Amino acid sequence: MSPSPPLPVDLSGIQLDPGGGLARQLYQALRERILDGRLPGGTRLPASRDLSQLLGISRNTVTRAFDQLYAEGYIEGHIGNGTYVVELVSVIRPTPIQAPSPTPSKALQRLQVHHLPAPAEGAPRAFRVGIPALDLFPFEIWARLSARFWRKPSPARLGYGDPAGDPQLRELIAAYLRNSRGLHCDPAQIVVTCGAQQAISLCAQLLVEPGDQVAIENPGYRAAGHAFAMAGAQLKGIAVDAEGLDTAALAQVGSCRLAYVTPSHQYPTGVTLSLARRLELLDWAERHDSWIVEDDYDGEYRYSGTPLAPLAALDRQGRVLYVGTFCKIAFPALRLGYLVLPLALAPLFARRRALDMRHSEIGTQAVMAEFIATGHFQRHIRTMRRAARSRRDALLAGWPEDVPGCAPVPAVNAGLHLCVRVDSLARERALIAAANQVGVELNGLSNYWLADSETPLDDRAGLVLGFASVPEPDIAKALQMLRQAWGANQQVLS
Ligand SMILES: Cc1ncc(COP(=O)(O)O)c(C=O)c1O
Repeated sequence: MSPSPPLPVDLSGIQLDPGGGLARQLYQALRERILDGRLPGGTRLPASRDLSQLLGISRNTVTRAFDQLYAEGYIEGHIGNGTYVVELVSVIRPTPIQAPSPTPSKALQRLQVHHLPAPAEGAPRAFRVGIPALDLFPFEIWARLSARFWRKPSPARLGYGDPAGDPQLRELIAAYLRNSRGLHCDPAQIVVTCGAQQAISLCAQLLVEPGDQVAIENPGYRAAGHAFAMAGAQLKGIAVDAEGLDTAALAQVGSCRLAYVTPSHQYPTGVTLSLARRLELLDWAERHDSWIVEDDYDGEYRYSGTPLAPLAALDRQGRVLYVGTFCKIAFPALRLGYLVLPLALAPLFARRRALDMRHSEIGTQAVMAEFIATGHFQRHIRTMRRAARSRRDALLAGWPEDVPGCAPVPAVNAGLHLCVRVDSLARERALIAAANQVGVELNGLSNYWLADSETPLDDRAGLVLGFASVPEPDIAKALQMLRQAWGANQQVLS
């Protein structure tokens, strides 16, 4: 296949489902970008031939989509003279979200900075971060269990339920953690949540006072930082090295209310927190009377070696709050996770949770409980681990070795993503832009740093690649595109 021509505008993220009307989908994708300002007025759209080649659709389809946009007044232009996005009046272009007058609260003000980027659109593509192998989820089994539950649900489960979560599910989670993580906990310590994010947010709401220092890994999981910042925390970014969070740097910061860590597979660098550091961290928490939030978001994905004991299993003082999720082993939209809490905290977290949303929806909890109890969960974990390992291998096998400025790919023994260091921010940007031009999605490591980091910009550069979301042939295809894109852009990249 010949390389697609570079486009004058960034149209990354457009994904068309061959099963539906392609022209309509393209029209909608372009219209959305025009309305939200990603394609501002005056932007020249690519020629229909180039666009059709890039998206792998017929030129006729592109023309039909353009015609519709033209008819509705989103674009203008004439054949042979280019097609341009029109200047839209502000009435229809959504303005940035602003706090309503008269008195914006602190929370509303913080939200201007502390929020997540819009989720990536469309079905997963190669190298999307945080997405497991969605194609392998046993939907037939899930549908059967779901139908069985809903055919004749017990009236006792249809009223207001336990805010801590379905008792049967909590029993099963406790047994699972005992067997798979060596984490001995009582079901009474478990609070079911809407995914890891809500678990982290509950920790922020209940443990952090405005003005408290909270230590987070830097680079790290920005969504956790945002949750703590929304509670009024002063974020203290702590460096991460080959052994994980730098506990010596943490000791320099002094007193913090809480430290948030991803010990089994640091997000996004992928390193594992060493045993010595785990013990130092626990010791630090004891000396400073601090909490530790341990986010074990992808602990099921371990490919070699024995996993180290979670901090929660080493904790003798009731300082560790352990966060787990089903979203990386099933799928993110499931929104099901849990907290394992020091016993005295569990009822308080459940009370707080009840004020937000009473409890998680019963169907998902009950079906997950059946899924676990009937052995499907363990089977699915094995399937997912095998698939992720094989997809990792496909990425490692096809990764271009000779890209200027790219460090060698590190050993990858866990998780769903890997991180390749790059020698400058300019290079990171150029590599990502060239990849986007051929429709390949890549994440910059520079996005994962706190804005006020002292680390020089060039030392923050790298590429973060999810390897699990699509099958091996799609990974190989994307790597082929990358090789072409990066090979054709040697001048920009070197
Ligand atoms: C480090 C980390 N923690 C938590 C989450 C969120 O998990 P959930 O979807 O269960 O909220 C993610 C998602 O990517 C993550 O990367």
